[in-house]
Amino acid sequence: MSPLEQRMTKSETELSAEERDRRVLKLYEQVVEIEQRLIPTGLHVFGSASNERECADLLRMVASFDRPECGTRALPDMVAEGLNLGTYEAILEAQDEEGWRGRERVETIVRKAIALFVSEGGESASRWLEAEARVPAVESSKLFGLLSRIREQLSTNPELESLARALRGEYIEPGPGADIVQNPFILPTGRNTHAVNPYAVPSVVAYTRAERVVNLLLERHRGEHGRYPRAMALVLWGLDNIKTQGEGVAQALWLLGVRPVRDSMNRVTEVEPVPLEKLGRPRIDVVMTVSGIFRDLFGATMTLLDKAVRCVAELEESDEWNYVRRNIRGEMAATGVEFEEAALRVYSNAPGSYGTNVNFMVMDSQWEHADALGDLFVTRKCFAYGRDREGRALEGREAREGLSRALSRVEATYQNIDSFEIGVTDVDHYFEYLGGVSKAVEKHASARPAIYLSDALSRDARVRSLEETVRLETRTKTLNPKWYEGMLKHGFRGVAEIESHVTNTFGWSATADAVDHWVYTEVAETFVLDERMLERLSSLNPHSARSLVARLLEAEGRGFWAAEAEMVSRLRDIFSTLEDRIEGVA
Ligand code: BEZ
Ligand code: MG
Repeated sequence: MSPLEQRMTKSETELSAEERDRRVLKLYEQVVEIEQRLIPTGLHVFGSASNERECADLLRMVASFDRPECGTRALPDMVAEGLNLGTYEAILEAQDEEGWRGRERVETIVRKAIALFVSEGGESASRWLEAEARVPAVESSKLFGLLSRIREQLSTNPELESLARALRGEYIEPGPGADIVQNPFILPTGRNTHAVNPYAVPSVVAYTRAERVVNLLLERHRGEHGRYPRAMALVLWGLDNIKTQGEGVAQALWLLGVRPVRDSMNRVTEVEPVPLEKLGRPRIDVVMTVSGIFRDLFGATMTLLDKAVRCVAELEESDEWNYVRRNIRGEMAATGVEFEEAALRVYSNAPGSYGTNVNFMVMDSQWEHADALGDLFVTRKCFAYGRDREGRALEGREAREGLSRALSRVEATYQNIDSFEIGVTDVDHYFEYLGGVSKAVEKHASARPAIYLSDALSRDARVRSLEETVRLETRTKTLNPKWYEGMLKHGFRGVAEIESHVTNTFGWSATADAVDHWVYTEVAETFVLDERMLERLSSLNPHSARSLVARLLEAEGRGFWAAEAEMVSRLRDIFSTLEDRIEGVA
């Protein structure tokens, strides 16, 4: 027994053992989460087909969902039932040791079955599944039939040929736009991508899925802050809502507590309130900042969202149960503005303009005080959309005061992540939007909001804080050898991708103070202070290598990273050497 244990009473020792188990389980949960992410291992090369390994990863993800349109069931569900573990859904919900063990068992079998399918074909995989997990071969063979078709389409890639045909002015067949996991019918690629009918949004499935995510989000916030957020800001993108058939839109409707109503032509043109008894919680006020692409594609949907806010604002409900009404009436009383002004909640760029430019301000280091980033967001996004009481379209009327007042009440910001392939450090757009709006809230509400993201795509939809999401992305991508070695195979471009991940991570420090210091320390150790790695990076792409070092120094200079003086001094020396090398001095 250790001296510490000797000093403890029996119940303290028991408690600490419990606490230890709890921590181990939590750690285990995090490791499994990292392991299970679909990690892109390189860039898409136009015209080239995916390799065996990527193909197996994709097929496993495809197999994890029910596909009633193809008559197939999710493989994890079939395995869980075969093993008599109950439903896979229940296994995912059970956050205890038994649940995690069950999950590991099911997932190991799923992985092996897919590997067997890839190496020996559907019949072998079906036979093995029947023996190993009592999954009836008649069931699994339907799934393997679907996977065979997908695999065949993945093994060829007609993109170059289609491009050549398009350049000759020939007809290109249309095909839906989504990712493969969400809709395998996007294959073959190289077709003329078509979008969605905005009147079909949100789809029934999107609305159903959104309820769970919104509940998780609100319960998490309540658990951590003692009550529901009275107002939230949401980021809505066009392409995401095409891919998910309006999951982000549906989440906004659930927060407000309304459901979409279809007209006789099955078009979503109206909403109706979900009764409070059924909702079981207050209606949350929502400010929607939508991208220029969303505005161009989903005009009818912007009108619907604006209508939803007005509908909720006019319900005769108490302030405790209807934050939209509470906030609008409060604003009218405090400032004397009319209902029409106080009810504006759908904002985008001015007509014909796109983006927030917050990304450019960050990447070019063109800001001194952090307020500048939030102010730029408001300048770019303060154009109101929707219709007034008389039905006249607002058409992007400038309403800077309106947006600033709406943001001043926001307590949480949120964006739905639609894709396995693109996460918060892959592109600069997540921090320009979600970071930008959060920075604007921080100024106008005089407090940093709680910032959430969800990925509703995997089977167990998760809501994570921004900090957790950045950690997960860092572990699975930027600092993961599987990811960066995949990038380095692309030479010059691969180094640029690594640098860009570091800059996008830095963007989350700049806009939301959401990056742990260890992230920068490990980036420095992995890519710069490791001599062999630095040599690889700088011989493949010295410019990106230099930018990466400069970004680390900037993170330190701006106080985002408390690095040791000796490390900073080494980085400075390395920066000078790289600069000399690029300028041809050394
Ligand atoms: C959009 O789909 O709306 C979008 C895409 C890229 C960047 C920003 C927005
Ligand atoms: Mg996207």
